Amino acid sequence: MTKPMFITLEGCEGVGKTSNMEFIKSMLQENNINFIETREPGGTPLGESLRAMLLGEDFKGMSDDTELMLMFAARAEHVAQVIKPALEKGQWVLCDRFTDATYAYQGGGRQLDIKRIEGLENWVLGDLRPDLTLLLDAPISVGRERAGKRSTPDRFEQEMDGFFNRVRDTYLNRAKADANRMKVVDASGDLLAVQNQIREIIKGFM
Ligand code: TMP
Repeated sequence: MTKPMFITLEGCEGVGKTSNMEFIKSMLQENNINFIETREPGGTPLGESLRAMLLGEDFKGMSDDTELMLMFAARAEHVAQVIKPALEKGQWVLCDRFTDATYAYQGGGRQLDIKRIEGLENWVLGDLRPDLTLLLDAPISVGRERAGKRSTPDRFEQEMDGFFNRVRDTYLNRAKADANRMKVVDASGDLLAVQNQIREIIKGFM
């Protein structure tokens, strides 16, 4: 059996994660790959409850440290109950956001100490890391315009441009530092142009 792959999808708000996730799924299906689809924060009943707390209005004023630790609490549950068991069974895992989002949002956006994130990452993940990460990248103004057309903004979507510029810069710096794993997709164009880039990356990867 070939090694099952762990693929993650990342990007700021409004870059088209949802439609491109569908596209990646259809590529995996066409290639008869047995996979599960999941997301963060979330992916387990406990994680989805934490997601509601993290994105909703009830705990709007939570401290940045609380936010960081809840992200990792949801991830610990997700890794133990869903991701590792799937990979052990030989299933590929396609995950909408993972630890790169913590570096980008809590590290870049909230400006928390990266060493704390690294410590939590090593604790919670052990040696588990994504095999491939697709970073959908577009200028913040483009994403905002697209996201603005959707429903009420969540706790993160209410942040200012300065926050999102730091998120984007952190993602791009991580991609530069780990270019083998993390591939930048220019998501500023139309869906077809974005999908063509994704197809090439996934084809090369498979
Ligand atoms: P989304 O997956 O629907 O885009 O929403 C999840 C939100 O949570 C998004 O604004 C990014 C944020 N987030 C973090 O701040 N840190 C994390 O570690 C993860 C996984 C998500």
